[in-house]
Amino acid sequence: MELSGKVAVVTGGAGGIGAALCRAFLEKGMRVVVSDVRADAVAEAVEQMGSSGDVIGVVTDVSAHASVEALADRTWDAFGGCHVLCNNAGVGAPSSTVWETTVNDWRWVHGVNVMGVVHGILAFVPRMIAMDEIGRERTDESVLQFDVCDDALESAGRTERANTFTQWVCTAVYFCPGP
Ligand SMILES: NC(=O)c1ccc[n+]([C@@H]2O[C@H](COP(=O)([O-])OP(=O)(O)OC[C@H]3O[C@@H](n4cnc5c(N)ncnc54)[C@H](O)[C@@H]3O)[C@@H](O)[C@H]2O)c1
Repeated sequence: MELSGKVAVVTGGAGGIGAALCRAFLEKGMRVVVSDVRADAVAEAVEQMGSSGDVIGVVTDVSAHASVEALADRTWDAFGGCHVLCNNAGVGAPSSTVWETTVNDWRWVHGVNVMGVVHGILAFVPRMIAMDEIGRERTDESVLQFDVCDDALESAGRTERANTFTQWVCTAVYFCPGP
């Protein structure tokens, strides 16, 4: 798959694995949206990653549906689409045991790690399918190398391809779970 010029959105992109993903995508010539809930970290990450115009920062709380919809709007405004979505943002409750975890912490973790992913799928996947580039861009391998979908993507019609793509994204989500 030719990555140069393609667009990647990484939630939780201002630190840890997310920031590493952003840097790796930029090295491949992609345009990158660094999305994170920490505004200062977003600004710092974008400054460090370069000022070429290929990277923008968007402050996003993935646990809020409207915030993720705004992230998708901003992505389409800036880059015209999204080819790779990494629902990477995740948190872990501070308590060491399930029974010591407070109700508020359960809600926080669920809001970010579960609903954050749901919000990402709802805000992005329909628009990504509407781009109608999925089948054409998938050539030898998918970005995340989920080969199970390759044959289906190769031969399927648009509707089937959309269904497969959605499952592919959901699979990707469960391959990258929270803590
Ligand atoms: N590091 C590991 O060993 C490991 C293992 C299993 C799973 N994971 C998962 O991989 C992902 C990345 O892990 P990491 O080690 O880089 O974590 P990290 O804590 O270093 O980075 C997570 C990023 O998500 C951001 N974030 C937190 N809440 C957010 C919200 N509501 N909206 C948007 N952004 C938010 C944080 O600001 C941070 O920049 C996480 O989902 C994590 O749960 C990590």
